[in-house]
Amino acid sequence: MTATVINGKAYAVSLRQQVGAAVAQLRADWDVTPGLAVVLVGEDPASQVYVRSKEAQAREAGLRSTTLRLPASTSQKELLGVVADLNSDPAVDGILVQLPLPPGIDSGSVLAAIDPAKDVDGFHAINAGLLATGQKGLVPCTPLGCLMLLRHCLGPRAMTGLSAVVLGRSNIVGRPMAQLLMQADCTVTIAHKGSRDVPALCRQADILVVAVGRPELVRGDWVKPGSVVIDVGINRMATADGGSRLVGDVAYEEARQVASALTPVPGGVGPMTIACLLLNTVIAACRRRSLAIPSYIADC
Ligand code: GUN
Repeated sequence: MTATVINGKAYAVSLRQQVGAAVAQLRADWDVTPGLAVVLVGEDPASQVYVRSKEAQAREAGLRSTTLRLPASTSQKELLGVVADLNSDPAVDGILVQLPLPPGIDSGSVLAAIDPAKDVDGFHAINAGLLATGQKGLVPCTPLGCLMLLRHCLGPRAMTGLSAVVLGRSNIVGRPMAQLLMQADCTVTIAHKGSRDVPALCRQADILVVAVGRPELVRGDWVKPGSVVIDVGINRMATADGGSRLVGDVAYEEARQVASALTPVPGGVGPMTIACLLLNTVIAACRRRSLAIPSYIADC
């Protein structure tokens, strides 16, 4: 039997609709339109594509969306000035500085300068600390999207006691993902470059989340039969005909023969990231004004 394919694209469409309904309710009840500001420095082609999608989807959900496009020559001081202006702008509820930043700009200093209440990426140390201590903050979008897909697939209570292995320890995905899985009562292992016998660690995972950026690293025989596999990787691979295609960090066809459910690439985790960014912007807008989170998204 082959695995169920987890349709992240369809789930993201319905989440964006719920966010749109919440935005409409906030406008009707409180005359509030949550605002998202995205800062793009330089001309990285992948970042330009991401930022355009973020802008379009934010607008479609009814958010006020602005993108500040700055030249690659922007200094760190100038960028910190832009962030300070957004921090003090009452119409801005969410700030996202697109990564990577050009060489010469220290991304750590820039992320640290964002008001944690507006940090819709959830990358600020305050939000990372709140997550690590089980408190309410803003949660990084990609792991939040992965958790939603897992809850959708397994049911929230069914996650209790499962063995979860997270491959990768980045601040953007691996570490916050491990925190969320622990909060969901899974027994969590984080495997990384220094880990020994990673295939054996993966083979004991009821839930396997892979975020390492290495095309098709995880083979079918790394996957525990009946497990759920979440593939966060998006890698462009050259094809024999001179073109290219996107592949994940998991050898999809092999894993599909073994797992009970898995996410495809593209169309799995990717679309959830922007949907969760919109969700975080609405949550930030409500918290900043001490408003109740609209019912449409309260349980997300
Ligand atoms: N670059 C790639 N993914 C992301 C993301 O989720 N947030 C930001 N700020 N930059 C990124």
